[in-house]
Amino acid sequence: MKTKKIVLFASGSGSNVENIFNYFQEHPNVEVSCVLTNKRSAQVIDRCNRLKINALYFNRHSFYNTGFVCSVLKDMKPDLIVLAGFLWKIPSNLIETFPDKIINIHPALLPKYGGKGMYGSNVHKAVKENGETETGITIHYVNEHYDEGAIIQQAKTIVEEEDTPESIAAKVHELEYEHFPKVIEQLLKKA
Ligand code: GRF
Repeated sequence: MKTKKIVLFASGSGSNVENIFNYFQEHPNVEVSCVLTNKRSAQVIDRCNRLKINALYFNRHSFYNTGFVCSVLKDMKPDLIVLAGFLWKIPSNLIETFPDKIINIHPALLPKYGGKGMYGSNVHKAVKENGETETGITIHYVNEHYDEGAIIQQAKTIVEEEDTPESIAAKVHELEYEHFPKVIEQLLKKA
């Protein structure tokens, strides 16, 4: 069976990248080919070095104004492009080149708490401030609008009164670690 390739995009800590890499490390026909990042100082780069994953940095110009990232991706021929804490909007040329092959994870139950500015701790603070009794994750396809692509899977967790934005973030991360690799595996079976 042909090896299926995942390319990951990340801007931050990269704990999901590490979790996905570990999940597939012993997999007979799935590999993490590369991690692309738009942040030179991102902790994900240290993780990639430690785990010996290829990492590639690109800047705003090469992402939006040249075909650099798109042509790198075309050469890699990924079966799935996975955004794991990637904060820039995906340009339409990438979406058109890789239809139904780009997915994202959002740390809330979309359509709630999505859109511009709703990332990282902003999301968990808003969930807390609004007194939500549940939150969760949404794994979805990426289209031209932030957090609006078709939903693939959601999972929920309870928000207790004593929860803080930090403890909510920890609960949400647990859901991400549990579900994201499995959803990727399912999608790759169909790819
Ligand atoms: C995750 O909560 C993910 O849902 C969001 O960004 C965060 C990335 O965390 N899109 P990490 O860098 O994988 O630790």
